[in-house]
Amino acid sequence: MSGQHPAAHPEPIERASEDELRALQLERLKWSVRHAYEHVAPYRRKCELAGAHPEDLRTLADLARFPFTVKDDLRQSYPFGMFAVPREQLVRLHASSGTTGKPTVVGYTREDIETWAGLVARSLRAAGARPGDIVHVAYGYGLFTGGLGAHYGAERLGCTVIPMSGGQSQKQVQLIRDLEPDIIMVTPSYMLALVEEFHRQGLDAAASSLRAGLFGAEPWTEALRREIETRAGLEALDIYGLSEVMGPGVASECLESKDGAVIWEDHFYPEVVDPASGAVLADGAPGELVLTTLTRQALPMIRYRTRDLSALLPPTARAMRRLARIGGRTDDMLIVRGVNVFPSQIEELVLGLAGLAPHYQLELTRAAHLDQLALRVECLAGAAPELRGGLERELAARIKAYIGISARVSVGDPGSLERSQGKARHVIDRRGS
Ligand code: DLL
Repeated sequence: MSGQHPAAHPEPIERASEDELRALQLERLKWSVRHAYEHVAPYRRKCELAGAHPEDLRTLADLARFPFTVKDDLRQSYPFGMFAVPREQLVRLHASSGTTGKPTVVGYTREDIETWAGLVARSLRAAGARPGDIVHVAYGYGLFTGGLGAHYGAERLGCTVIPMSGGQSQKQVQLIRDLEPDIIMVTPSYMLALVEEFHRQGLDAAASSLRAGLFGAEPWTEALRREIETRAGLEALDIYGLSEVMGPGVASECLESKDGAVIWEDHFYPEVVDPASGAVLADGAPGELVLTTLTRQALPMIRYRTRDLSALLPPTARAMRRLARIGGRTDDMLIVRGVNVFPSQIEELVLGLAGLAPHYQLELTRAAHLDQLALRVECLAGAAPELRGGLERELAARIKAYIGISARVSVGDPGSLERSQGKARHVIDRRGS
């Protein structure tokens, strides 16, 4: 009656009652736990050690009796030991680039790829994308799940995809100008690099055809959202995911509410736990996100410790719970002279100071057994050189006041810091172990 295309509407499950959703989750959870128990030998051994059996799972809360899965479980059974289906049934592999040692390999059956495409299509729809829109994908294609994950989802929704991948900023800008995409999918840090490339060419990014972006794959702040929205002239939405659990599209934000990524709970069961004790926390409490896949065939993940710090928020625009913005990871928290610091806290302060560009790099060293923190930022083009000293002092003072640590701040020339083409590297830790 509204005259809108049917694909403009959420799927019925996105509007289900809580009872309906919980019933579906319980049914799927029983299947998934049994599937892992019966077909993934390392997980079955963990269950046996913990005295947990699929029969014990009668309510959703019973999941807490089951052992966690951690990234190291995947590494130890590298490459195929955690798969629950014969290798011949895998139609695709992806891998995460481990900083040390072996990568983590993940795999998908044909149906897993279908499910994934459906969830990315749902995420795009939540962001306001519609069939017929042009979607520019600047997440990296290849072993990283970002590019292909976004690609299949956009095709599924009925969009025209530009499979650009990351890098080649000049060409990205040319294609955005010539092909006039409606939607962009890219890391927030690389979006900033693209905005700069527009400026370098004497163009205004805010005048481009783009009306929305789905940004993720790395932590980013509300301050960066505002910055991107202003400078790129689009709606900036958060998309979350991880390769161990699927890839992009585990959770995604809705255009109408913009209040945190909705977890697609018909396919993933979320818990938040105390990172130290592993105890399950009540909704709303901050802690480590733990995800269980409900429908994944090739690689069922039961209680996967994501290391991402968040909280479960009540449903708003959809029937499903939302993720509080991820403030960091348990493993990217820096401890500087005993004070816990997340790069995102620094990001907020850098973006809060007029005159600074939204780029930063932290470097940690140790001198005479004491941690030293250096923060490099950039001034905006056209800023008078004599203002830099004042900006350095002001930023250092704010870091001291809000975070409680001393940092040596240096304001460099515009463009002096390395730009990311995918996930930004904000921290260089030279303290050794
Ligand atoms: O980054 C999948 C992805 C691609 C998500 C494109 C969104 C968009 P991995 O390389 O396995 O997979 O890295 C997963 O990235 O555990 C988080 O720490 C971080 N991350 C992903 N999305 C977000 C987000 C992809 N929206 C890891 N906010 C995760 C904060 C995010 N961190």
